[in-house]
Amino acid sequence: MFGEGTRNARLMLVGEQPGDREDLEGEPFVGPAGRVLDRALEVAGIDRRLAYVTNAVKHFRFTERGKRRIHRKPSLAQITACRPWLEAEVRAVRPQVIVGLGATAARALLGPGFKVGRDRMQLRSGDLAPCMTATVHPSSILRAPDDDARRAAMDDFVADLRKVATLLD
Ligand code: URA
Repeated sequence: MFGEGTRNARLMLVGEQPGDREDLEGEPFVGPAGRVLDRALEVAGIDRRLAYVTNAVKHFRFTERGKRRIHRKPSLAQITACRPWLEAEVRAVRPQVIVGLGATAARALLGPGFKVGRDRMQLRSGDLAPCMTATVHPSSILRAPDDDARRAAMDDFVADLRKVATLLD
C-alpha cells in the first residue's frame, strides 16, 4: 500500500506499516492510530491534506487469531525490502521535512543509530531530505496505561508536531 497526499507536500509523515483498517481501505492512517494522528495534527496546526502520509513497510504483517488479524512488527528484512518504495515516494514528492512515527520508521529513515526513546525529535539532515527526525508512533498513545498517562503522551506528541510546524514556516 502506497502513501497518500499532495505531490508537492513539504512534509512527509512515515508510519510503520498499514494496519487492519488501512489494509482493507487502501489508505494510510485511517484506523484508531490515524484518529490520534489526525487530532494531534489538528491541535498542532498542521493540515494533513498538505502533507504526504505513508509507511516504511508497504504491507500489513499479521497473525490470524480466529477472525481477527493481529498486528505483528515488521522484520528488518521487510523494512529493507520496502525501502526502495519509500525512496521512490521521497524522490517523487521531494519533501523538505520527513518525520518518522515510531521505531520502524526511524530505523528505515535514520538507521539503527537513531533511538526514538533517546533521540526523539533530534534533527538530522540526510540523503532523503534536508531535515529529518522521528518521534513516537501514535498507537503508543493508545497503549498508555491510564487517562493521565494518555493525556501526557498526547501533549508530548502535539508538542513534537508543533516543532515540526515551525520547521515548515
Ligand atoms: N499504523 C501505521 O504505522 N501506519 C498506518 O498507516 C496505520 C497504522
